[in-house]
Amino acid sequence: MRLAIFPGSFDPITNGHLDLIDRALKMFDRVYVAILTNTSKKPLFTIEERLGMMRECQRSERVLVGSFQGLLVDFAHAQGAAVIIRGLRAVSDFEYELQMAMMNRELAPNLETVFLMPKNVYSYLSSRLVKEVAVLGGDISKLVPKNVEEALKRKFDTPSNS
Ligand code: PNS
Repeated sequence: MRLAIFPGSFDPITNGHLDLIDRALKMFDRVYVAILTNTSKKPLFTIEERLGMMRECQRSERVLVGSFQGLLVDFAHAQGAAVIIRGLRAVSDFEYELQMAMMNRELAPNLETVFLMPKNVYSYLSSRLVKEVAVLGGDISKLVPKNVEEALKRKFDTPSNS
């Protein structure tokens, strides 16, 4: 059984993340979406909220969703994964992603990082920008799943655009 770990903050999940999960499912038997609990980025959504939203979005029993803390490589080993999935959108992602991949390789030489590119229309999309647009009342309905759109509206208490 080939298991890949797809780690991230997912604060919140976007359509770009969902697109990457679909692509990973074509290559691996199972994809474990691993949401970082103790991110230094001060998340908008609690870990319970992020787990709940992610689980609501999953339609395949081949997708597992859970949280992790500590080193990603330790979590990947504990789950029996041999591959880490990361998304690459633009050149600007590359340096950060390369550094992480190389550090993870240093820590765990048997783990491979596989980069996947989302659909073109999501190549500019990030959780950070989604939050920025949502807090100002902009339309994010094409960028995130419905449950996330509603959760953002509740967080920011903005009127519905639809
Ligand atoms: O969605 P993000 O915030 O870009 O995801 C970053 C993440 C969670 C993949 C990264 O911060 C991570 O793996 N953190 C766990 C701690 C760790 O293993 N650090 C060393 C890897 S360089």
